[in-house]
Amino acid sequence: MDEREDYKRVVGEAAARLVRSGMLVGLGSGSTARFFTEALGRALRSGELHDVRGVPTSGRTERLAQAAGVPLVELSAAGVDLAVDGADEIDPALNAIKGLGGALTREKIVAAAARRFVLVADASKRVTRLGERAPVPVEVLRFGWVRTRASLAALGCRPTLRGGERDPFVTDNGHVVLDCAVAPGFDAGAFAAAVDALPGVVGHGLFMGLAHTALLADADGMISLLPVQVSP
Ligand code: A5P
Repeated sequence: MDEREDYKRVVGEAAARLVRSGMLVGLGSGSTARFFTEALGRALRSGELHDVRGVPTSGRTERLAQAAGVPLVELSAAGVDLAVDGADEIDPALNAIKGLGGALTREKIVAAAARRFVLVADASKRVTRLGERAPVPVEVLRFGWVRTRASLAALGCRPTLRGGERDPFVTDNGHVVLDCAVAPGFDAGAFAAAVDALPGVVGHGLFMGLAHTALLADADGMISLLPVQVSP
């Protein structure tokens, strides 16, 4: 296992220790959240936890949770007590870019429904400003996607169809993803609002003001961060 896998395991297992018996828990997607779901399954099997139910954020997580022995339920109006998920970039305010795994829309529904949303990542995901390295994934309807791509480009980003036109990546919801490379110093909040207002957009990977805590690990160990308010 390489070092980054170790860091992901450390934060995933630490997040599992935040779960209490009886909780309804949002199960994130991706290679870091996977460690969380597996640790939760082990705690349930050992009897350390009981009566925990999970809401999976993707088909892949659903299958993983079933294999790990985490009972699953649909997301209800009451939301979830805790949601744990990975991220592609995390800024000091704990705003994040998510969705390089393609599960962004379900992930955001669950994160927004959580009384506590915890990001887990290896510390290389920390950035000063969002968009430094990762594009912003935008899930769009197949109908009219070329027009939606042009509308996104008009907002100042460079959208690329994930997978290419011959074999586009299709989300669990049956839509396609436009990965939008943004210019350095872009205004993530304004961009998020503009993208939300475009017809054809199902969801985007900017998670603004949703995370309450981030658990990050590197060779120096694990840290738990709270959002820092930074002036633009
Ligand atoms: C899945 O759609 C994503 O939002 C992931 O949570 C994100 O890409 C982080 O994935 P890793 O933990 O695999 O880096």
